[in-house]
Amino acid sequence: MAVREIVLIGDPILRQKAEPVKHFGPELRTLVRDMIETMREARGVGLAGPQVGVRQRVIVVEVPEDEEEGITGPWVGRPFALVNPEIVEVSPEMEEGIEGCLSIPGYVGEVKRHVRVVVQGRNEWGKPRRIEAEGFLARVLQHEIDHLNGILFVDRLESREKLYRVEDLEAEGAVESA
Ligand code: NI
Repeated sequence: MAVREIVLIGDPILRQKAEPVKHFGPELRTLVRDMIETMREARGVGLAGPQVGVRQRVIVVEVPEDEEEGITGPWVGRPFALVNPEIVEVSPEMEEGIEGCLSIPGYVGEVKRHVRVVVQGRNEWGKPRRIEAEGFLARVLQHEIDHLNGILFVDRLESREKLYRVEDLEAEGAVESA
């Protein structure tokens, strides 16, 4: 396993559409393991292929369980990968929440996302995976799938006033980045 370098905003790869994965071989499993290690080392909750310079439709997610906040369920509290993920259903309800990105260090924004989504894709072995997510997990999935389409959270801010410097928010507690 290896920690890979995280690509920062300004690099054109973050603005390109990633390609579907066609081969579910050992290289893909190595990429997934490296992405999980890189995400953990950076203390992120999600990471997408383009963020490690790989223009493929692969994301990894690890949302810590927080029962008090209602963040629980089978896809919480452990890392997992989704290959070729597609959002197949969204709730009409949306909510604003604070979001960061490992490719945009030092900033967070208040971003409106669907409260619930259903995402389909495959695991790193090619097995179909379907995830019904809500709240913070749904937010992270939407953020990561945006990365595969060249979209960053700053593109989704309703105004410049919804972008904050992390140091200005320090008094309000920890902020997680994807
Ligand atoms: Ni991100």
